[in-house]
Amino acid sequence: MNDQPEAKNGQPEVKKGLVGVYADFSAISKVMPETNSLTYRGYPVQELCEEASFEEVAWLLWNGELPTAAERAAFAAEERANRALSPALMSVLRAFPRDAHPMDAIRTAVSFMGMEDPETADISDAAQRRKALRIFAKAPVAVAAAHRLSKGLEPIPPDPSLPWCENFFHMVFGRVPQPEVIKAFDVSMILYAEHTFNASTFAARTVASTLADIHAAVVAGIAALKGPLHGGANEAVMRMLLEIPSPAEAEAWLRKRFDHKALVMGFGHRVYKKGDSRVPTMTKYAELMAEVVGDKRWMETSAVLARIMLEEKGIHPNLDFPAGPAYYLMGFDIPLFTPIFVCSRITGWTAHVLEQLQDNRLIRPLSLYNGVPERRVPPRSARG
Ligand code: COA
Repeated sequence: MNDQPEAKNGQPEVKKGLVGVYADFSAISKVMPETNSLTYRGYPVQELCEEASFEEVAWLLWNGELPTAAERAAFAAEERANRALSPALMSVLRAFPRDAHPMDAIRTAVSFMGMEDPETADISDAAQRRKALRIFAKAPVAVAAAHRLSKGLEPIPPDPSLPWCENFFHMVFGRVPQPEVIKAFDVSMILYAEHTFNASTFAARTVASTLADIHAAVVAGIAALKGPLHGGANEAVMRMLLEIPSPAEAEAWLRKRFDHKALVMGFGHRVYKKGDSRVPTMTKYAELMAEVVGDKRWMETSAVLARIMLEEKGIHPNLDFPAGPAYYLMGFDIPLFTPIFVCSRITGWTAHVLEQLQDNRLIRPLSLYNGVPERRVPPRSARG
């Protein structure tokens, strides 16, 4: 294998932000920016949103094919059987500071799950798959419990009679909403599940490439997802919408933002420059939520921002732009938005960990030194 860096005019070329770098092959998903499309294991994501559930998509990401009816039933039974958190983890959650950031809470909870898991050190494919399922089953329980504790409420235990999405609402609110709300949430989970070598997935793969355990890789993914340039954007979008007094005032608000050259959250994407493939589907379900709730303000304001951003800057919205108001309309508190994204992306991260280990090579790029030239350490007596 050629390990020499690419040279340009005799100098190795630095690709800051790894822009345009293909770091490995992957058969999990494909982004096609020229056609604004995204496939998971070959299936267009918008078709999966209409024809499959989030649990089926999780199975697809891990196994390469959609489950049969028998596989679906066995998988659902296993997921439901693995939801319960240990008493030790529950007491850790209770010890978190009330004002802990929910992303720090879920990151710490998954880290603790790794310390408790009977197979942590076993990185064989079979054990990794069992652990991926356990993280998938337990993480939403920890997210919901930490959230309720932060509000001074008692956690609501998972209900094994409920599917994954319904159970999440049950654990957060103590009730299951109408089917339209569940469908919109399920769609958001499918859309957030996987997106090639984004920052958090690459972080998870980097950790996995050292042969560290899968919990460690997921913890790295959560840490990377926290930032507002990545997963944190869905929360920032809703905070921004709340700042805008009404749809009629959205244009003036945005133009002021342009004057300050400030970022407009929920817009732009490293890969999609002509529109994010997931936005039309999520917007459709965010609009459905606005209808169900009877509050069209956020979507009307969003439409004004999207129109002007495109006209003035040529920048399209990304998935976080419709997902933020959709979650708000579902009744979730804003600090829960990114942890919800975690619960979905766990499927993509763990699928990538499995893939990384099928043909592993330690991920270790180079840096081109631009510091002071080599020099001698002055004797302590000469340093004043
Ligand atoms: N608001 C205003 N201007 C934006 C913008 C935004 N959301 N996103 C990009 N731009 C501008 C940049 O300022 C830059 O302008 P310049 O050429 O005059 O400097 C130009 O568009 C190109 O953007 P760039 O920063 O090179 O894109 P990137 O690929 O490095 O960054 C993001 C991509 C996602 C980090 C960036 O678009 C962003 O910060 N978006 C807001 C946060 C967000 O929604 N994140 C979720 C991502 S899914």
